[in-house]
Amino acid sequence: MFSSSHSLTGLTDRSGLIFGADYNPEQWPAATWPEDIRLMQEAGINMVTVGVFSWARLEPSEGARNFGWLDHLMDLLHGGGIRVCLATPTASPPAWLGHEYPETLPVDADGSTLWYGSRNQFNPSSAKYRQAAAAITESLARRYAGHPAVAMWHVGNELGQVSYDDETALGFRTWLTRRYATLDRLNQSWGTAFWSQAYGSWEEILPPRKAPYLINPSQKLDFQRFTSAQLLSLYRAERDIIRRYDTRCPVTTNLMGFFRGADYFAFAKETDVVANDWYTDPADPDSHRLGALTHDLCRGLSGGMPWLLMESATSAVNWREHNVPKEPGELRVDALSAVARGADGVCFFQFRQSRFGAERFHSAVVPLAGENTRAFREVAELGKELRSLRQVAGTSCAATIAVLFDWESWWAAESPDTPTNRLQVLEQLQAYYAPLHRRGLSVEVVHPSAELGRYGLVVAPSLFLLAPEHSNSLAAYVRGGGQLVVGPFSAVADSNGHLADGRFPGSLADLLGVDGEEWVPLASPVEVRFGPIQAVQAHIWAEDLALRGNTGKVMAHFGAGRLEGRPAVVRNCHGAGSSWYVGADLPAEALELVLADALAAAGIASPLTAPLPDPVEAASRGGHLFLLNHSARPQEVGLGWTSVDLLTGTAHGPELTLPPFGALVLKEPVPTQTGAAELSNLKNDRNRGTA
Ligand code: GLA
Repeated sequence: MFSSSHSLTGLTDRSGLIFGADYNPEQWPAATWPEDIRLMQEAGINMVTVGVFSWARLEPSEGARNFGWLDHLMDLLHGGGIRVCLATPTASPPAWLGHEYPETLPVDADGSTLWYGSRNQFNPSSAKYRQAAAAITESLARRYAGHPAVAMWHVGNELGQVSYDDETALGFRTWLTRRYATLDRLNQSWGTAFWSQAYGSWEEILPPRKAPYLINPSQKLDFQRFTSAQLLSLYRAERDIIRRYDTRCPVTTNLMGFFRGADYFAFAKETDVVANDWYTDPADPDSHRLGALTHDLCRGLSGGMPWLLMESATSAVNWREHNVPKEPGELRVDALSAVARGADGVCFFQFRQSRFGAERFHSAVVPLAGENTRAFREVAELGKELRSLRQVAGTSCAATIAVLFDWESWWAAESPDTPTNRLQVLEQLQAYYAPLHRRGLSVEVVHPSAELGRYGLVVAPSLFLLAPEHSNSLAAYVRGGGQLVVGPFSAVADSNGHLADGRFPGSLADLLGVDGEEWVPLASPVEVRFGPIQAVQAHIWAEDLALRGNTGKVMAHFGAGRLEGRPAVVRNCHGAGSSWYVGADLPAEALELVLADALAAAGIASPLTAPLPDPVEAASRGGHLFLLNHSARPQEVGLGWTSVDLLTGTAHGPELTLPPFGALVLKEPVPTQTGAAELSNLKNDRNRGTA
C-alpha cells in the first residue's frame, strides 16, 4: 500500500484537499444532472462517489448490461471538472440474484434468511454471489478504467455482513484446516475437552449458531477471525479485478471506524487509501471526542499517512432512534477535526437528499428545500475554507503517543462468559484517550505489533488477549526508556482465548510489578485513594493485587472493604523506563492523575499554556494548530503565543476567544535552538507541577 501512484498524493497534489459527496443520480431524472453539477461546482465539490447502489440499474437481469446512463453521467461530471470515485455496486445485489439464487442471501445465527428489499443481503461465502460480484466489477473496470473522470475506486460499501449458513460452514472448515491442519490441534485450541465438545470429523464443525447455552469462546473467536478474513477476501477479489484494468488510481473501501465485525489493521494493509465513514452524534456532547479517537485510529491504520473521510453528514442522520440535526456551524468543525487529524479530504453522504427509500430523512448537501438552505451554504463555505488549507494536504501529525488497540483482543474480551459485561473495550479506550485529547496531544491508535520506539508514551487501555511477542515488545520498549500505561483486565488470555496460568496480569506481571490473585467485579462502588487527600470511586471493577518484586510504588490504593489497603494503581520501574498498571475502572479525574504522571515522565507537554475548556479540540498538523470549538458557546483559550489564522489571515493570541463552533488554524511557532530548549524545560516543569 501507499505507493505514491496509489495514494491520495496524486489527487491532492493537483487540487488540494478532496471535497466530495456520495452521488446517487439514479434516483433522479437525467435532466437534473447538469443542475447537480452546477451545484457541485458552486459548493467547491471536486470529487463524487458514484454507483455504490447501482447494481440493479447496471445489470437489470442476469448478465444484461446497461451502462448508457453511466457513460453519460461520467462524461457530464468530467465536463464539469468533477472527479469520480467509482464504486462497485456489490453492497446491494439486485432482487433477481436473491430470487434466483437464495444461497447468495445471508442467514443469521438462528437460521433465518435475511431477504432482499433492503441492502447488504449477500452471503460473503456464497460462490454464486462472488461470481456475480466479480462479473459486474469486471464489466465496470473494463469500461471505465482510463476514463478521465475516474480518480479512485470504491469497493462495495462498509463491508460487514456475516452469515451462518451451510456454505459458510464449508468455508469455515477450510479456513480451520489451514489454521490447525489436524483435528487434534483444533480440539486442543478450542478446549473441547470442556462440556464434551470434542470433534471427531471436520464435517461436524459449525459456525457458532444459536445454541441452548453459552457457546465455546474459542470457536466464536475463530469464527470472528474467519468472517473478517472472508470480508477482506471480497475486497481483495474486486480490487484485483480493478487493478487488472487500472494501474493508476487508488483502490479503497469505506471503513466504519471502531466497527467490531472486521479487523481493519488487516484491511488497511490492502487498501491504497484508508477511507472511513464517521457520523458525529449531535445529541451527544462527547461525540466529537469519539470522532477524534476514530480519526486517530485512521491515522494509525494508514501508518501516519493522510487518509480520507469518505462519509459524514451535513446535519441529521436517519438511523439513530432520535435524529438531532447539527447546530449551525457544526458541520464545519466536524470536518476540520478530521483534517486536523490527518484527513486529506472530507466527503458527505449524500449530495442530494432522497425523496424515497429508507434514507428519505437523511440530511444532504442539497436538501429537499434546495440550495437556498443553511446546509448548502455551510457546505459551500467549507469548500472555500478547504481550498485555503491546500498547504495542509499531504502533511503529517507527528504523534508522540501510541494508544494500543487490537480487534482480536476486542473480540475475545467481550464474551458473555467473562466476569462482567460492563467493562467494555471501547469505553476503556475512550476513558484513557480523554486526558490526552484534553491536552491537545498528538496520538495514533496502533496495533500492539507496531514499532513502539518512536513514541514517548504508550497507552494500552484494554488488551485482554496479548500474544507473547507483543508482551515482549512492550517489555523491551519500557526497558529501553519508554513509558507504558496499562488498563485493567489485560494480558488475560492467549490467542485461543485460554486464560494465562498463575497470577495476573500473566505475561505482563514482571514488567508491571504487580501480582494479581482475583478479579473483583463490584457490587457497590469502592474508594480508590491517591495519597491522603484525594479519593475517587471505582464502580464496576477492582482487582486483588499485590506488589511483585521491589521496584514498584503504589500510586493509589483501595479504601474500606475487602480490598482495603491493597494497591489499585502501581507505578513500576523497569530498565530505563516506567509502567503504570491500573487495577480498577477509574473515573476521569483519576485517569487524569495517572496520565499526567506518565506524560511528565515522558516529557510530553500540551501545545497550550492553559488546560483546554472541554468542548474545545486542539490538534497539530503540518506546523499548524487547529483549535475547534465543538459547542454553541464562546470559549476562552490560553494559547500562550501569538499567531495568524490560515483561514482568515487574522492575528490571534496569546489569549483568545473562540466563537460558537468557531475554528482557527494557527501557524505554530518554529522554536529557535535555545528557544526549543527553554520551551522543553518549561513544559517539563509544568508537567512536574513546578511552573
Ligand atoms: C453509511 C452508508 C451509506 C448511508 C449512510 C447513512 O455510512 O455507507 O450508504 O447509508 O450510512 O448515514
